[in-house]
Amino acid sequence: MKAGGRKPRVAVLISGSGSNLQAFIDRAQQDNSPFALAVVISNKADAFGLERARKAAIPSHVVSHKDFQDRESFDKAIHGVLQEYSPDLIILAGFMRILSASFVGKYAGRILNIHPALLPAYPGLNTHQRALDALERWHGCTVHFVTEELDAGPAILQGRVPVLATDDAATLSARVQTMEHIIFPEAATWIASGRVEIVDGQVLLDGKPLAKPVVQDWLEANQ
Ligand code: GRF
Repeated sequence: MKAGGRKPRVAVLISGSGSNLQAFIDRAQQDNSPFALAVVISNKADAFGLERARKAAIPSHVVSHKDFQDRESFDKAIHGVLQEYSPDLIILAGFMRILSASFVGKYAGRILNIHPALLPAYPGLNTHQRALDALERWHGCTVHFVTEELDAGPAILQGRVPVLATDDAATLSARVQTMEHIIFPEAATWIASGRVEIVDGQVLLDGKPLAKPVVQDWLEANQ
C-alpha cells in the first residue's frame, strides 16, 4: 500500500465493545507494526470501544446515525470526519451500519470488514445460532473487502474453528472472536505492507491471484 513514505494510516469504525479495535491497538503498538491508527469513529456514544481509543490516545469521534435523516447524509458526515485524518485503510470492526454505495465507491479497495462466519456461508445476522442449527462441524470468521453488496466483497483471510457438541451461541461466538482478533490485524498487516493489492478487480497476494481466501486454522493458531 502506497502511503507517501509514511506508515499507512488506519481508521477504525465501531459500534460496540471494540474487542477487534483492541486487537488493532495492540498490533499498532508493536514496534514492527506496518500501520498506525489515525482515528476511531463510533455511531454510538456509549460504545466501550471509545474508552479503548481514549486509553490508547487515539482521536475518536461519535457520529450518531440518529442525527441524520438518511444513510447518504450519515455517510457524508463519516466521510467528513475521515477527511480530517486522510486514512489509507478503513476497518469496520463491529460497525453495525450498512454503508451507502457512494461511500464504498469513494474508498474502493480500502475498506475491510470482519464477518463472523465462513463466507459465503451465513451472510447477515445471527451467524453463530444459524451454524449451530445447521449442525455445522466448522464455523469461523472472514476478513473481506467491502463492496456495495453486503458481506460479498472479495475475501482475503478466514479463521476456522471447530463447533463443539457442548456449544451454544455464546461459547461458539467467543471461540470465533478469538480468531477474529488474530486474523483481522493480520489481514490489515498484509495490506499495509503491500502484500495484498487489487488489480483490475482481482485480489493479489504476494503478486499471485487469490482464488480463495487463506484459511487460518484454530489448532495452528492455538499451538
Ligand atoms: C464481531 O464479532 C464481528 O464479527 C461482528 O461484530 C462483532 C464486533 O465485536 N461484525 P467487537 O466490537 O469488535 O468486540
